[in-house]
Amino acid sequence: MGIPENDTHHEIGASGDSYIHDMGKLLEVVQKLSASHDLTSVMDIVRHSVRQLTGSDGATFVLRDGTYCYYAEEDAISPLWKGLRFPMEICISGWVMLHREPVVIEDIYKDSRIPIDVYRQTFVRSLAMIPINTNNPIGAIGCYWSKKYKPTPEQIKVLQVLSDTTAIAMDNIRYQEAIAAKAMQLEEAIDGTMLAIAKMVEQKDLYTSGHQRRVGRISFDIAREMGWSDEICEAVRRAGIIHDIGKIGIPSDLLAKPARLTPTEFSLIKTHVEQGYEILKDDSFLLPIAQIVRQHHERLDGSGYPLGLKGEEILPEARVLAVADVFEAMLSHRPYRPALGVEVALDELISHRGTLYEPGAVDAIWRLVREKDYQIPE
Ligand SMILES: [Fe+2]
Repeated sequence: MGIPENDTHHEIGASGDSYIHDMGKLLEVVQKLSASHDLTSVMDIVRHSVRQLTGSDGATFVLRDGTYCYYAEEDAISPLWKGLRFPMEICISGWVMLHREPVVIEDIYKDSRIPIDVYRQTFVRSLAMIPINTNNPIGAIGCYWSKKYKPTPEQIKVLQVLSDTTAIAMDNIRYQEAIAAKAMQLEEAIDGTMLAIAKMVEQKDLYTSGHQRRVGRISFDIAREMGWSDEICEAVRRAGIIHDIGKIGIPSDLLAKPARLTPTEFSLIKTHVEQGYEILKDDSFLLPIAQIVRQHHERLDGSGYPLGLKGEEILPEARVLAVADVFEAMLSHRPYRPALGVEVALDELISHRGTLYEPGAVDAIWRLVREKDYQIPE
């Protein structure tokens, strides 16, 4: 099939090689803009590419700031107006935004729209300015030449493509930021709810006030020290915050008993892990946490409860939580004993490292305390 007469290639009349080269560059820029996640990188890409694609001596990236034009970024042979704000009525970027159309000025000294005293101090002789998002401009891209110059129709088209893509990229970033802010609010709400639940449990068991929150924090710190992903560290922290939720079903006087428990009493206390699992398991978001909660009293050698799981039968997250739980519990007062202190807690963990407790987790808390000046959460 032949190339039609009005094919773009012919229409813009560029030489084949340089046209392909320029289009390749433009595509590269469009791709980079589409992948941008923040305004700084968008401005960075635009200011570099404007000069590359049009051969201009300077470029600016202007943002609309209420009734002002904010010259947010620039790339030029000598300073232009980076960081300055001008009322829209007195600057050319304001003109293109107010009129919603691009402007090309071949000689700034012959155009009444130009505040010539401001320009006289610069290298600028010719310019082109394109609004970003023509229908509802949110900024403008400016292009400056030091000698009298009239940009070609192809260069104006390139600037238009660049500006349209910039508008989409800025829209995307706004959506991404709005979604991230919502997600953050949601995370905070979940955390708030979990901490409230933790407090409810601890109202029944005053001696363990703050225990779950601290276990959550220590579990997170151990997991991070072990090099786990942010996502898993967070899951472990949340499991820590509500790991004793099942104690809500245990009589308070038993939880606060200031003496050793009888075997019957102890077996009743032990039911808190299954009760916790039952409370959490029906929600798909909470199910993974429910499984960690259920296993936090399992021990590597199978001596734990409720199922007597061994080694890798126990979830890695539950193995970390178990270490954090024992460590924190030994640092706190209990109805039947005073706080035992960090040295005793570390001794306990080290002496049962690999038999009761996950070696990686024990080593991690050991390193945190011994080598990294670990601040135990209050
Ligand atoms: Fe527990």
